[in-house]
Amino acid sequence: MVFEPGVPAGEGFIPLCVPEIRGNEWKYIKECLDTNWVSSVGAFVSRFEQAVSQYVGAKHAVATVNGTAALHVALLVAGIEPDDEVLVPALTFIAPVNAVRYVGAWPVFIDVEPDYWQIDTAKVADFLENECRFEGGKLRNKATGRRVSGILPVHVMGHPCDMEPILEVARKYELVVIEDVAESLGAKYKGKTLGSLGDIACLSFNGNKIITTGGGGMIVTNNQKWAARTRYLTTQAKDNTLEYVHNEIGYNYRLTNIQAAMGVAQMEKLDEYVEAKRTHARCYEKALKDAPGITVPKEASWASSTYWLYTVLVDEAKFGVDSRELMKRLRANQIQTRPLWHPACSLPPYRDCQAFKIEVADRLYAQGLSLPSSVGLTDKQCEFVASQVLECSAACK
Ligand SMILES: Cc1ncc(COP(=O)(O)O)c(C=O)c1O
Repeated sequence: MVFEPGVPAGEGFIPLCVPEIRGNEWKYIKECLDTNWVSSVGAFVSRFEQAVSQYVGAKHAVATVNGTAALHVALLVAGIEPDDEVLVPALTFIAPVNAVRYVGAWPVFIDVEPDYWQIDTAKVADFLENECRFEGGKLRNKATGRRVSGILPVHVMGHPCDMEPILEVARKYELVVIEDVAESLGAKYKGKTLGSLGDIACLSFNGNKIITTGGGGMIVTNNQKWAARTRYLTTQAKDNTLEYVHNEIGYNYRLTNIQAAMGVAQMEKLDEYVEAKRTHARCYEKALKDAPGITVPKEASWASSTYWLYTVLVDEAKFGVDSRELMKRLRANQIQTRPLWHPACSLPPYRDCQAFKIEVADRLYAQGLSLPSSVGLTDKQCEFVASQVLECSAACK
């Protein structure tokens, strides 16, 4: 059975995570085509920005071409400078780490905690307290002498990071907090929707995200100046549009009206999609929580997770096979799964960067396996996937 680009998934195939298009997408996109407003200006761009800013409770939103571009510009407007250092989690999709390098700064990798797999706030505090010192009014890393200027918590897999301790140390050490909410739109921290807890936050609407515009991203912030600067930098830094005057180097990072039209339609469904993912999580949890060698994801008492990708840990000694072998066997049964990210700190571009007390990320990488998590997954499919996981374990005994 094939699952190829451009071809609908074959009958019986259960993909990892595909878009859910069942609202006003066709209608709104047709409106763009009918009116000829297809490019980077148009009413849907502002509508999409308003819908997202309202949803996350931030005053301002600026749509971007993708989440990576949003991160790049967020770091620029937040004042991260070349040769600065930014604290990032060791276990994350690579985009936020690369974005730190785009602005000429350096990532310092902090381990993740074992319960919810988010940046370990105790280790963040430990690093800042013991590895850094204030010098000439600036916080400097004792080992590298560089200025530490920001923390970039990435809310991975639909679960929030523990933000209060992060915001507390950020205040204490005068660091800016740039949140990566790409995987966790709709998740809540202590009742608050993610996106307005830090100084600035970035979203992605890539095809595998809870809502999608095909490709797209957004910056949300309460800082009016930063929002204006984001708009300026993402639209080629135009100072005089008629005379083509550009006083700074800008970027062509704006989202098109067609994509925003899709975004508006998807936003209308977001709450429904979050609920669908939480229902899948309950279904998986019921079936797998007692399976020997399987650890199901936890939700902190202070969190409401979207379970973006429902990810389990596979302990080879107890389960019978490791996560990669389980992945292969599920694939043979037309079920697509995938491992967690290779810890960024040991990838070639980042091997020489500082990595602080990495004790958990490697194990999660070795054991993690994300199960099918599309919004449109049916209960029957969910039960089938879980039964195949259990069967694989039984067959190995
Ligand atoms: C945590 C995280 N940050 C950033 C991105 C980048 O977003 P985009 O693909 O829209 O550039 C992604 C995934 O796509 C992600 O998972």
